[in-house]
Amino acid sequence: MKVGFIGLGNMGSAIARAVAKCDDVSLLLSSHNPEKAGKLQAEIGGQLLDNAQVAAESDVVFLGVKPYQVASTIKEIGENSNNGSIWISMATGVSLETLAKLLPGHDLVRMMPNTPVAIGQGMTSYTSQSSQAKDVFKELMAHSGKVVEIQEGLMDAATAVAGCGPAFVYQFIEALGDAGVQNGLSRSQAIEMAAQTVLGSAQMVLATGQHPAQLRDAVTSPGGSTIAGVVELEKNGFRYAAISAVNAALKRNQELG
Ligand SMILES: NC(=O)c1ccc[n+]([C@@H]2O[C@H](COP(=O)([O-])OP(=O)(O)OC[C@H]3O[C@@H](n4cnc5c(N)ncnc54)[C@H](OP(=O)(O)O)[C@@H]3O)[C@@H](O)[C@H]2O)c1
Repeated sequence: MKVGFIGLGNMGSAIARAVAKCDDVSLLLSSHNPEKAGKLQAEIGGQLLDNAQVAAESDVVFLGVKPYQVASTIKEIGENSNNGSIWISMATGVSLETLAKLLPGHDLVRMMPNTPVAIGQGMTSYTSQSSQAKDVFKELMAHSGKVVEIQEGLMDAATAVAGCGPAFVYQFIEALGDAGVQNGLSRSQAIEMAAQTVLGSAQMVLATGQHPAQLRDAVTSPGGSTIAGVVELEKNGFRYAAISAVNAALKRNQELG
């Protein structure tokens, strides 16, 4: 299968790294930014072509440009796209309806990935009206992490929680690390401890299926140090801050869409 990529920034290149792990795929990479594309090609292989060639030769095209660039990028390609190809857009807020107007006759997938896709630990939601496109998409994303199908109406929520979520988690890891440094740990020790703690705790949630509050209760002994910290987080509106961050991101997604 020839799999093309137009838009090889943070997200497009993360997806390309995951797709490169699939058997029997040839990668066609857009040469729009020769420096970025060349570096990626050196890492994962594939051919460098211009956008029109990628569109003409690919069986599947991943579109990784910014939402405001989607229409102009597709219009530039004009009549050149392969008629039978599947197009997969990762653009925040760009609906299947809008994509169908820009790419009439193509099977379409709208996806919402996050950057941990690059290391096979992503969280990707997707929606499509074509069962063939869904099957191809799932096959190509097999090495990307978790992939779930959702209704298109939930895409903004998925974007705010999982697409934007890594930034919120990094901020939490940074803050835990700062506290470690304040109390004498080296920066690298503190960040490693914070990151591994977040990773292990997240894996506990997924592996046990327990509600996070149950897992938290299991580590808060009466009158102990952990409950002292938990109360301080509550006092400072930690959970409300996280909920507000997701809601602000969701509102902004809707404005951008
Ligand atoms: N970053 C995330 O965590 C995330 C999560 C979910 C979804 N997304 C979605 O992923 C898409 C890309 O976001 P990003 O964060 O990866 O942005 P980005 O790093 O700016 O990547 C966009 C890339 O598109 C290239 N580009 C622009 N115009 C082009 C054209 N006409 N032809 C070919 N390539 C072109 C840009 O190259 P130049 O810079 O050289 O112009 C850039 O490398 C967006 O639609 C975003 O909504 C991102």
